[in-house]
Amino acid sequence: MTRESSVALTTTPIGYDPALERLEIELLLEGIYRHYGFDFRDYAYASIRRRLWRRIEAEGLPNVSALQARVLHEPALMERLLLDLSINVTAMFRDPGFYQAFRDVVIPQLRTWPFIRIWHAGCSTGEEVYSMAILLEEEGLYERARIYATDINEVVLEKARGGIFPLDRMQEYTENYLRAGGNRAFSEYYTARYDGALFSPSLLRNVVFAQHNLVTDRSFAECTVVLCRNVLIYFDKDLQERVHGLFYESLARFGILALGAKESLKFSKYEDCYEAVSPRDKIYRKVR
Ligand SMILES: C[S@@+](CC[C@H](N)C(=O)[O-])C[C@H]1O[C@@H](n2cnc3c(N)ncnc32)[C@H](O)[C@@H]1O
Repeated sequence: MTRESSVALTTTPIGYDPALERLEIELLLEGIYRHYGFDFRDYAYASIRRRLWRRIEAEGLPNVSALQARVLHEPALMERLLLDLSINVTAMFRDPGFYQAFRDVVIPQLRTWPFIRIWHAGCSTGEEVYSMAILLEEEGLYERARIYATDINEVVLEKARGGIFPLDRMQEYTENYLRAGGNRAFSEYYTARYDGALFSPSLLRNVVFAQHNLVTDRSFAECTVVLCRNVLIYFDKDLQERVHGLFYESLARFGILALGAKESLKFSKYEDCYEAVSPRDKIYRKVR
């Protein structure tokens, strides 16, 4: 999934009691968690509420409770709702300055490691994973790297494995790639096919895609780099803190944590455990 397509900025219908709405939403999220294991209970409320109403409208339902009744009995509706709730907007070389900083500041450090484990947590449809694979390939580090790319949503992971991205975004991605310090012809990395760009499957030779839920699942490897960009922004403060704990546990000493442009370690109890390597780009190194 790519651009944030026409997200309806739905508000509560007139006359709907906000306290009742909140209760219904909490019950719905509890039901989803207990029945399907997807835990959205600690996601930022305003955003989750907007997205639930979007699905309620799309299904022609009158209220939150009606959605609950249907979703618990219809796994197919749960899949649609999961797509609404998991917000899969992404892009190749998104925030090119971040990738330039990664090349300039992180790559020299990675050269000192004999083996590199990179975890993309919340990788969505994989654009950032392909971007990283290209960058490592160009820097001569790909062979010693293993990339774990995870997301809560199996549908987006399947797209990521396929490696076909919309052809009409290649111009934007080429510009991003160049601004990120790339100096080859970006078109070397893909073949145009109908309206899709098929990325070279060899970019995936050291990539493992797997479903992993940041809320309920554990650390699975000691990583050199953890990238979790534009995911924590959807979580409330307590959940962000729990996930920071998971990343701290998953990172080797002197490992790198990379967050999204609107995210940071500020106000986290883990802030002191890291030093900012590139504060503007939200790149940190674990120092204790
Ligand atoms: C906005 S996308 C970010 C994609 C990419 N990291 C980027 O910066 O372009 C957020 C992703 O986080 C995933 N996500 C949301 N909640 C998650 C959770 N609890 N565990 C793992 N992934 C989650 C969503 O499915 C979605 O693919």
